[in-house]
Amino acid sequence: MRLFDTHCHLNDKIYLPDLTAVLQRAQVAGVARMLVVGYDLASSRLAVQLADEYPPLYAAVGIHPHEAVAFRTEDLTALEEMLAHQKVVALGEIGLDYHYDHSPRETQQAVFRQQLALAAKLDKPVVIHAREAHADLLAILKAGSQTYRGVMHCYSGSRELVREYARLNFYFSVGGPVTFTNARRLPEVITEIPAERLLIETDAPYLTPHPFRGRRNEPTLVVLVAERLAGILGSSPEQVAEQTWNNACACFGLENDDIGVEKR
Ligand code: NI
Repeated sequence: MRLFDTHCHLNDKIYLPDLTAVLQRAQVAGVARMLVVGYDLASSRLAVQLADEYPPLYAAVGIHPHEAVAFRTEDLTALEEMLAHQKVVALGEIGLDYHYDHSPRETQQAVFRQQLALAAKLDKPVVIHAREAHADLLAILKAGSQTYRGVMHCYSGSRELVREYARLNFYFSVGGPVTFTNARRLPEVITEIPAERLLIETDAPYLTPHPFRGRRNEPTLVVLVAERLAGILGSSPEQVAEQTWNNACACFGLENDDIGVEKR
């Protein structure tokens, strides 16, 4: 079984002491590819560095809505330079967060729009963080003549919104919350997601799956997400792993070959 953790923050300083061990455990568990996601310029640079150094890692670079207030126009140039790296496969995480409102909403929207424009210009997928902001987010994605594509990360919207985002060429990434014992609505929403648009993630070090809640999360635990999804979808963890692996490779434009098998 091979798994693709499409959203983790191995660029978080919490992994500094033991990143090698974390990656070893991932390899043993079959987590063969991981997307390390940036949230500001420094964490994005580190994501690129890690992807450059470790073969299973890929990077996404972008400015999180929490950090939008510190955004400067020249940051777009910095992001564009990073996106030229072969292993930087997406722009993110970007979006809108009206739950915490760490940055003013107008600022969040402006920074989101500018990064979307960059993604469209470079024809890259985006990784979207959306919290209590789906109406504005959809309006922005639908405005203008540009089309975008990418991932709704840690999807927690409604069934109706699944149809909306699916029409806009978006994938849906499901993480630890689906394993929580109080997750009631999410399983129903997940059955609405088209099989070819489903992805899995950890969002490590956050959102640790049940029964390890409260501990630091890491990519190995994406196995628990695959197992829970198999239960919801009436399939096997192996099938979920294979489907979401193929979907992730398609979404990020990666070759989908047999990893570890030497080519002649
Ligand atoms: Ni994240």
